[in-house]
Amino acid sequence: MTPDLRVSFAGIELKNPVIAASGTFAYGVEFEDVVRLDRLGGFVVKGLSREPMIGNPPPRLYETAAGMLNAIGLQNIGARAFLEEKLPKLRAMKNVVVFANVFGYTREDYEYTVQILNEGEGIAAYELNVSCPNTQHGGIQFGSDPRTLDEVVTTVKRFAARPLIVKLSPNVTSIGQMAYVAQEAGADAISLVNTFIAMSIDIETRKPRIANVSAGLSGPAIKPIAVRMVYEASKSVQIPVIGMGGISTALDVIEFMLAGATAVEVGTASYWDPRATEKIAADVSRWCVEHEVARIEELTGAMQV
Ligand SMILES: Cc1cc2nc3c(=O)[nH]c(=O)nc-3n(C[C@H](O)[C@H](O)[C@H](O)COP(=O)(O)O)c2cc1C
Repeated sequence: MTPDLRVSFAGIELKNPVIAASGTFAYGVEFEDVVRLDRLGGFVVKGLSREPMIGNPPPRLYETAAGMLNAIGLQNIGARAFLEEKLPKLRAMKNVVVFANVFGYTREDYEYTVQILNEGEGIAAYELNVSCPNTQHGGIQFGSDPRTLDEVVTTVKRFAARPLIVKLSPNVTSIGQMAYVAQEAGADAISLVNTFIAMSIDIETRKPRIANVSAGLSGPAIKPIAVRMVYEASKSVQIPVIGMGGISTALDVIEFMLAGATAVEVGTASYWDPRATEKIAADVSRWCVEHEVARIEELTGAMQV
């Protein structure tokens, strides 16, 4: 039996549900010699902003028990350079689905960046990272306040020439409410979770392990919380949910799908093994054969209580 691994959301069909997550796969072209990108469902490029950004000073990564802290600070080459330097190379690759992750510090930043990206060919959809502090609202994250979330999604939806995936922050009290707000503001799909705000201290030097002091926690340590959030979000909306947070095996992919995910993203696992995404996608196929799952999309939301 050859299982049918195709999944679709927002009018986009993927050959399998495994997508490489933003920030852990650069702009894709850098992984060309390591991972067969055409074996993945797709990949999300590093978060893009209207201008290039150098990010935070080091140290910005620290390994924790079953996880990783990062405060890269959204370093990127900028939307314009992405279109000119990276996208043509990606377009030359066959059967590769590219998602562009977008962030900003004001509503206008998002609007402007999406308008630049609209000019490029070969982007399947935008993934909106709403986990940045909104400088116009005193630094509160877009994604932690329902009103600012509604404003930014409504604005971007008006300008986006492509489907809009809203990537939710897990640093909220009610993920179901934020998922619903994103849907009502026009999101075509939601993805979650981004990293959890966390920190670590070197007790010998009494200094924070990360120069930025606080950082985002990712990796297997967050997986059970992420699964719960994907479950709650999927119960609150009708639009498709893309799940992530600590996925490192095919079994994790199946678990997120049972919780309600249509597709998944894999992030930190690529730091331990740069070929993790490709291996996980192959193992998902094997799992389906062994468990006689003919069509993987049947697993979405199929948890039995
Ligand atoms: C080093 C690093 C950089 C990241 N950069 C971004 C980013 O630019 N935009 C974004 O939306 N998420 C970013 N993320 C979050 C991941 O895409 C993902 O949501 C999170 O790490 C949880 O998944 P994981 O446990 O599989 O890594 C980053 C994560 C890491 C570890």
